[in-house]
Amino acid sequence: MKLFDVYPLNDITIEKALGATVWDDKGQEYLDLYGGHAVISIGHTNPHYVKRIEDQLHKVGFYSNSIKIPLQVELAEKLGKVSGKEDYQLFLCNSGAEANENALKLASFHNGRKKIVAFTKSFHGRTSLAVATTDNPAIVAPVNATSNVSFLPFNDVQALEDHFKKEGDEISAVIIEGIQGVGGINVASNEFLQAIRRLCDQYNAVFIADSVQCGYGRSGKFYSQDFSGVNADVYSMAKGMGNGFPVAGISIAPKLHPKYGMLGTTFGGNHLACAAALAVLEVIEQDNLVQNAENIGNYLISELKKLPKIKEVRGRGLMIGIDLPEELKDVKKNLLLKHKIFTGEAKPYVIRLLPTLNIGMKEADQFLTALKAELA
Ligand SMILES: Cc1ncc(COP(=O)(O)O)c(C=O)c1O
Repeated sequence: MKLFDVYPLNDITIEKALGATVWDDKGQEYLDLYGGHAVISIGHTNPHYVKRIEDQLHKVGFYSNSIKIPLQVELAEKLGKVSGKEDYQLFLCNSGAEANENALKLASFHNGRKKIVAFTKSFHGRTSLAVATTDNPAIVAPVNATSNVSFLPFNDVQALEDHFKKEGDEISAVIIEGIQGVGGINVASNEFLQAIRRLCDQYNAVFIADSVQCGYGRSGKFYSQDFSGVNADVYSMAKGMGNGFPVAGISIAPKLHPKYGMLGTTFGGNHLACAAALAVLEVIEQDNLVQNAENIGNYLISELKKLPKIKEVRGRGLMIGIDLPEELKDVKKNLLLKHKIFTGEAKPYVIRLLPTLNIGMKEADQFLTALKAELA
């Protein structure tokens, strides 16, 4: 059997990783400013993380959600504390798409409605409702297409108000990334997030903050939507939550009430996943990584803004987009092949920096030196 060929691959095999460094099968070292697509939050093979998972594996790796799992309670308490949403409730699942799928279902169960508002350039995942709220027709299969989702222009308060005036009583949920990732690192304005909060309150719709990529401290706040000073009703999380272990969840406001059987999963919240997620939060807290993301991110953004030829630098904390003109379209490839630095990308020519949250000035300067050489 061969692999189902859906990923265009770099011809690189990673065999070893530590912190923000990875090595290939020939011993070549790379600086990882991509974090395996924003997943590596506390650094590759962090010793506390490895030990916590290893210890748990020797006790019990998995049992179903039909028994008590005290690790889930511990995780909910820790997440409530670190994220500053102690009165919220946690439902655990396995991936970002599944988290958004559950958030959208929960909203619909809550208010009995069907319509969803999403935004241009959004990406919410590849399962049925998640992909239906993703603004990319190429990945929406005919069976996923639905007229229940409206795509409104991102950061356009007037368009949002007009839409609510027209069909506000039918809207179940508004789903938004605080910083769009796949869409090219576009930051939702505070005014826009505040308008979503106000209109959702007025029309009894549910405000879903997709924090799968922009969450878990990456922006310099735990959830990037926190910059706006308003709370969402549901935060979806994945990627950085497990530092590579597949674990995801939704953090749910107290006004949304659970009912037996309403949501469920086989693997979600298993013992190993909880151990991984707890280790991540412990390291984030102990090493002050949200603050570090803000500090190093501010430094990188201000230095990048001084460089010539770049069209625009966007983002917050360690979620940074460097928008390049077409004539510099090879810079990302050269960073990898010549300078041995992994970065992410977004269409058409945006370099995305999504590193582990504990990079320091050394790594930031290494990247800036390489980028300057490419721009020269
Ligand atoms: C904002 C956002 N939401 C949802 C997802 C889907 O997450 P997953 O690939 O874990 O299903 C992604 C993945 O890139 C994402 O960036």
